[in-house]
Amino acid sequence: MDERDARFLLGSAGQAALAQLAAEDLDERYTLALLDRLRQTLSPGEAGAALTTARLRQRAAAKFSRAASMVFTPDALEQASGEAVSRWRARRFTDLGAARIADLGCGVGGDLLALAAVPGASAVGVDLDPVRLLLASANLDANGLSASLVRADLLDPLPLAGVPAAFFDPARRAAGRRIFSVRDYHPPLDVIRAWPFEALAVKLSPGVDLGELWPYTAAGAGIEFVSAGGELKEAVLWTGAWGFAGCRASRVEPDGSGASLEPRGLPAPPLAEPGAVLYEPDPAIIRAGLLAELGAELGAPVTRLDESIAYLTADALVESSWARAWPVWDWMPFNLKRLRAALRARGVGRVTVKKRGSPIAPEDLIRQLKLDGQGESAVVVLTRVAGQHTALICGERL
Ligand SMILES: C[S@@+](CC[C@H](N)C(=O)[O-])C[C@H]1O[C@@H](n2cnc3c(N)ncnc32)[C@H](O)[C@@H]1O
Repeated sequence: MDERDARFLLGSAGQAALAQLAAEDLDERYTLALLDRLRQTLSPGEAGAALTTARLRQRAAAKFSRAASMVFTPDALEQASGEAVSRWRARRFTDLGAARIADLGCGVGGDLLALAAVPGASAVGVDLDPVRLLLASANLDANGLSASLVRADLLDPLPLAGVPAAFFDPARRAAGRRIFSVRDYHPPLDVIRAWPFEALAVKLSPGVDLGELWPYTAAGAGIEFVSAGGELKEAVLWTGAWGFAGCRASRVEPDGSGASLEPRGLPAPPLAEPGAVLYEPDPAIIRAGLLAELGAELGAPVTRLDESIAYLTADALVESSWARAWPVWDWMPFNLKRLRAALRARGVGRVTVKKRGSPIAPEDLIRQLKLDGQGESAVVVLTRVAGQHTALICGERL
């Protein structure tokens, strides 16, 4: 989308077209008919921009509660932080009590919305892209919020003074491809070395190489891994006044509330064969390496099945939002015939297959097991126990 398209969409003709499309079925099958109708009053470019935006609003509903009145480009929506996670992060800005907050690389405003809502603070969004800044302004309006917006290149000296706290969200994709090294982000992570903030948070890819963050963690920064809906969403580098030692795991709810598990430097749980319950920790716990801290949280002695696998096992079931759990009925070194016989002996006719550290594709195993679909359901977990390829037969999730 160029600046002209953006201005059209935000003007009265664009808004009327979007209102009309809000009531339509936007399925791909109707593209030609929808465009034909729009072109009765709009240019082909305007009609295309309106239809794309109407479809993006539908997709954006997964991230924003007011998506139906917001505006995006496909890339900007892809890059935008969801409301729940940005609200979760914004709580630390509230706790800090900074009167001014900068959102550096604000895009269409996914994070800026949460930062502009921090009580007692004024926010400023900075981005190089004039179209995104226009859309960010409209998105603030759509959410009843306000912030200043500044067009600037973050590689230049920052055009800000008297701003103690900032959030920086560098682009981690270029030309549709994911960027893996923090040195290749746009802008690269090391721009922050020249920035003067008392407290700065940086959003990073959840798969970030922790070795690359060493210069920052050695200077006191902490890393937070954040999950939502059972998915690992992001890593955040908390620097300056927000620094802490090690990696923290956080789990965010759809309303932006959440919980954190803090690093305590506990030794990894010992290795052992499967007990009565198999636990799969939340992905933020796995990524933060807090398996022992999870054991302490559960208050039950937990062990690991294998050095390199993040499943935990215990003899007792403890309900926790930090882990999913399955009762272990049986386990054996992986062997198709033996597994099939064990399932049949238990009257199991349907299985769900989970795996960690196994090369076997779940759909291949289900096909090869040739179960009759009748009787009990079970969960087959393919993993390693002390390095050996193992199948666990578990009951449905507890
Ligand atoms: C990951 S997106 C930010 C998404 C935003 N936080 C949100 O939730 O909507 C990264 C942003 O950085 C901006 N950007 C990249 N390089 C920049 C630079 N050198 N100066 C300023 N902004 C830049 C891009 O235009 C893009 O909007």
